[in-house]
Amino acid sequence: MTTAVLDRTDALAERLIGAALGALELYSVYLGAELGLYRALDEQGPLVPDELAEAAGIAPRYAREWLEQQAVAGLIEVEDTGAAPAERRYALAADQARVLVDPEDAAHVSPFAHMLAGIGRVLPEVVEAYRTGGGVPYEAYGRDFRHGQGHVNRPAFTHELPCEWLAAMPDVLARLETGRPARVADVGCGQGWSTIAVAQEFLYAQVDGLDLDPGSIADARRHAEEAGLNGRLRFLEGDAAGLPAHGPYDLILLLEALHDLARPVDALAAARAALTEGGTVLVVDERVADRFTAPGDEVERMMYGWSVAHCLPSQLAEEPSAATGTVMRADVVRDYAAAAGFSDVEVLPVENHFFRLYRLQV
Ligand SMILES: C[S@@+](CC[C@H](N)C(=O)[O-])C[C@H]1O[C@@H](n2cnc3c(N)ncnc32)[C@H](O)[C@@H]1O
Repeated sequence: MTTAVLDRTDALAERLIGAALGALELYSVYLGAELGLYRALDEQGPLVPDELAEAAGIAPRYAREWLEQQAVAGLIEVEDTGAAPAERRYALAADQARVLVDPEDAAHVSPFAHMLAGIGRVLPEVVEAYRTGGGVPYEAYGRDFRHGQGHVNRPAFTHELPCEWLAAMPDVLARLETGRPARVADVGCGQGWSTIAVAQEFLYAQVDGLDLDPGSIADARRHAEEAGLNGRLRFLEGDAAGLPAHGPYDLILLLEALHDLARPVDALAAARAALTEGGTVLVVDERVADRFTAPGDEVERMMYGWSVAHCLPSQLAEEPSAATGTVMRADVVRDYAAAAGFSDVEVLPVENHFFRLYRLQV
């Protein structure tokens, strides 16, 4: 075998070993988040293993093993590596807490661990779907996936959506701020963080979140109640195609949702029919490249990664389905919008690593 072939073999083997390490560490992050271990360390640390076990209500032997693994992985701090195992004190530094604890911090990417756990739960069904051509419903990915999906987007929805993203459309902003009660729909709202953020920012707006997934709607209603927002906010369980029955709306949002709809053109046509005179549809979806290239950059790799294990199977659970996958390129958005009767699609000048913003014109 030539040296070049061996180098490629070694590089690929090393890459998969690195990926296995990353996956294992994400499982440990899942445990830390799910069991409240990071939060206990953040609020009460530094802690020895028995103190963490007591604070979080877990078995002491597990607390010790998890703390040692976290420190070895460099995810948390340990004060004295030379101390006896039971005496070592562990802590979370402020920069680590931003990633692992604070749900509204822009660096809070740890919910990816929940998304992957949700996929793990249904992998045998995904394998079967590949054989039959069928699908795996969004609902089957369960609470872990919903939680991960909702929380990974929560910081951007809380901070960037109401200010930066909507500010890129000054006429829409003016409409939301006039004092006249503007109506907003958030289609495919998931756990409702975007719906809540819009209601919190625009005090005169009436905001409806709509989603097909009962679990997501139940979560969203709970989140709204916890935020003290019932009244100007409603969460409706139903298909995007049913939107006109609840309208008309001044602003309709589809946030990381259009590619996931089995029938995106029907949903956009329904959105167009549900608009008030001069109303606006804003689609925010993946910032993928304009065309297929291989190997691709990290955004492409990430989006194809979700596509093969989650988005495509969940889209194919419905029939008929456009089976868009996660990688919905800009020309596909334009084609869907044109088929739904929109005359133009404007890409808004908003910088974001993962998202591109499309304003659809009637
Ligand atoms: C990728 S998730 C995005 C959720 C949320 N916008 C967010 O970013 O966290 C896509 C959402 O679309 C919803 N969905 C899929 N098909 C739908 C349909 N036909 N009508 C309404 N919602 C739908 C799913 O239940 C899911 O909550």
